[in-house]
Amino acid sequence: MSPQATLGFHHITMVSRDAVRTLVFYRDLLGLPLVKQTVNFDDPGAYHLYFGDSSGKPGTILTFFEWPQSQRGGWGVGGVHHLALGVSGVEAQLKWKRRLTDAGISVSGPYDRGYFTSIYFQDPDGQVLEIATAGPGYGIDEPMDALGQQLILPPQDRLPAGRDESEIHLRVYGEPVPTVTSDMILEGIHHISGITDDLGQAHEFYEEALGLRRVKRTVNQDDGETEHWFWANYDGKEVGPNSSMTLFGWPHSGRRARPGLGQTHHIAFRAYDAEDQMAWREHLLGMGVEVSPVLERKYFQSIYFQAPDGMLLEIATDGPGFAVDEDPKHLGKQLQLPSWLEDRRVEIGEKLSPLLQGFGG
Ligand SMILES: [Fe+2]
Ligand SMILES: [Fe+2]
Repeated sequence: MSPQATLGFHHITMVSRDAVRTLVFYRDLLGLPLVKQTVNFDDPGAYHLYFGDSSGKPGTILTFFEWPQSQRGGWGVGGVHHLALGVSGVEAQLKWKRRLTDAGISVSGPYDRGYFTSIYFQDPDGQVLEIATAGPGYGIDEPMDALGQQLILPPQDRLPAGRDESEIHLRVYGEPVPTVTSDMILEGIHHISGITDDLGQAHEFYEEALGLRRVKRTVNQDDGETEHWFWANYDGKEVGPNSSMTLFGWPHSGRRARPGLGQTHHIAFRAYDAEDQMAWREHLLGMGVEVSPVLERKYFQSIYFQAPDGMLLEIATDGPGFAVDEDPKHLGKQLQLPSWLEDRRVEIGEKLSPLLQGFGG
């Protein structure tokens, strides 16, 4: 039996040059709790930091490998272009623009994308981030029971020639925003946008391999020409939260994504439990996809495989979760290691730069 459809994203893993700098940016500026500090289980000399909502719920989790020696990554086919985090509404988004701008970060937007409104900026390693509003959603220009079936062209005022960039630039919250107020809380992965050289092939793959369904077929609103397709957990009525995967189509492009700093390493989708994951594994093998064995990641179990364009994907179980080795009220406070690395704790600790000292817990 093949699994029905993944509920959506479990986590996204990116590459950072400096764990402390990443912590200051994501925890202290973006207000995302650090829910686990551990090491890369395949490379125990390197930090693996996990941010998420306070419990590290699947769909909210951003993780980073600290690889100081890594080269700068770059966009291209088989890679991620940007990661979007969700926010409640436009006012909260303007507060984010003010907070980030006041911190010396260059922010573009807000742009009305129709389905949501977006601002863009970069993390310290150059990873492109977006903060996108929850609504109004994919139903604004086609019926909710027939999303993604036709090519939808955006109205002129959403394309570059129809936008008043100077007016957009000036749109910002009127007061400084020194703290992340409750309305500003980032609600996990809103969407992840990558680049492929074959949208048709990607469409077949994401539908067949993961049970996602196309919810929008449109064009990149920053150039009006590049096709931009969206898939999500969609039952013909509603689109599931934290589940929108989008791809820009660069047909026949030879520009491959370059792994490294400021680039996504992989994207993980959800399986309910170990049994569901085995069903996914059998399903992928049955499609002729090469899949790793099940790997023990302590907080979940993982299998890895690649999309046809080369994007590295994972399916991770929802459980057991981040409270497996720490008090759920105090996640991320101390370095945690899996049992098979415990006897190397001193040696590993000496390789890692101190994380929390001086940065207010
Ligand atoms: Fe986006
Ligand atoms: Fe992962």
